Amino acid sequence: RAATVHEAESATISRGAVESNHAGFTGGGFVNYENVQGSYVQWSVNAPQAGPAALTLRFANGTTTDRPLDIMVNGAVVSAGRAFQGTGAWTTWRTTTLTVNLKAGANTIRATATTSGGGPNVDHISLDTSGGQAGDTP
Ligand code: GCU
Repeated sequence: RAATVHEAESATISRGAVESNHAGFTGGGFVNYENVQGSYVQWSVNAPQAGPAALTLRFANGTTTDRPLDIMVNGAVVSAGRAFQGTGAWTTWRTTTLTVNLKAGANTIRATATTSGGGPNVDHISLDTSGGQAGDTP
């Protein structure tokens, strides 16, 4: 079962800009967080049922300094100061995945910069809400 992609450039952005000057992004661009603590991107996502989902975030960090983000689901931090390490270049995109618990219906996912460097450049999140074990009936 495929994951659903939610582009950062289509999300709610607080203190960040949609840009497209570093190749390799999906969709129309990516979000360049302002280099301040508290800048964020927030996505509204829908889950068909309550339960665990695999949340993958695609990012680039052309510096050699971590750009940590608090990952929040429905207002609660589920991964505090998660490290987004240097990827070697702004055009080199990597993914990180964590399991989050969603409720049925609308959910918010927010990624907030926790240091004065701001966030990494964020391309999209993708969400696999199939949960359950392999072999489960969909
Ligand atoms: C550079 C780069 C941006 C990036 C920024 C940063 O300006 O071009 O894409 O967001 O550095 O350090 O955050």
